[in-house]
Amino acid sequence: MLDKKVAVITGAARGIGFGIASQLAKDGFAIAILDVIAPKQAAENMDSIRSTGQPVLYFNGDLTNKKDRSDFLNKVLDTYGRIDCLVNNAGVAPKVRTDVLETTEESFDFVMDINLKGTFFMTQAVANIMIKQVTENADIRPLIINIASMSSYTSSTSRGEYCISKAGISMITKLFADRLSEYGINVYEIRPGIIFTDMTKTVKEKYDKLIGEGLIPINRWGYPQDIANAVSVFCSGKLGYSTGEVINIDGGFHLRRL
Ligand SMILES: NC(=O)c1ccc[n+]([C@@H]2O[C@H](COP(=O)([O-])OP(=O)(O)OC[C@H]3O[C@@H](n4cnc5c(N)ncnc54)[C@H](O)[C@@H]3O)[C@@H](O)[C@H]2O)c1
Repeated sequence: MLDKKVAVITGAARGIGFGIASQLAKDGFAIAILDVIAPKQAAENMDSIRSTGQPVLYFNGDLTNKKDRSDFLNKVLDTYGRIDCLVNNAGVAPKVRTDVLETTEESFDFVMDINLKGTFFMTQAVANIMIKQVTENADIRPLIINIASMSSYTSSTSRGEYCISKAGISMITKLFADRLSEYGINVYEIRPGIIFTDMTKTVKEKYDKLIGEGLIPINRWGYPQDIANAVSVFCSGKLGYSTGEVINIDGGFHLRRL
């Protein structure tokens, strides 16, 4: 078994996940990533993580595919022998924003399969590995972090399926926080606000305008590093007497204002 902690992060080839992986590598974690993006396209980012001196296992697979999930986790255990942290980050927006009165079943299934079903079964599989680990080695205190969204509680009628998937992730946080507490495995949730990545690039003008008009108390876009910093705090273990906890990294968007 590796003598350093191991972080498993889904969807970390780019964007928020890449920011999280980079930060956890700086914090001393060995990194394992599952992503659908071809290794060649992710190579530059992976090299940048490796430049911290930490090993990176990049597995090209699909979160929705049961065999990919299981092959990935077997590879992680063969390579590192342990999992200390799971960050459920992989997620997609609908391919086309469509009014909730017109949402197609195809788009609903696409978003739900990745964001919700894939995340649920990845969490289940890793939770069982973590339970085995803590039972065999009392010194390991693993944790799980879910990347939900401001959309867990905010209505966006042009992407209802995304909102439903993120609301579902918030229940995954509660379910596993409850179920895993007896094993000392804490589960946390981060709700990012408007974060500048490939996902939001296509709606940049819309959000530039809204942010310019004062939508967010802290008047700027969020960046992957903002989310990575919160993950780093959770992984520090300093919040050990807390589970099922949610932190909004959204510039204060969640505040009600008069
Ligand atoms: N960008 C934002 O404003 C924002 C806000 C709130 C929440 N989030 C959430 O943060 C997470 C990361 O988003 P991002 O903005 O970095 O997006 P992104 O599109 O830049 O990155 C998503 C990553 O997930 C990977 N991925 C997608 N489908 C996958 C699958 N089936 N299997 C494995 N990997 C898959 C992608 O290849 C990509 O690397 C998502 O869950 C997203 O919903 C983003």
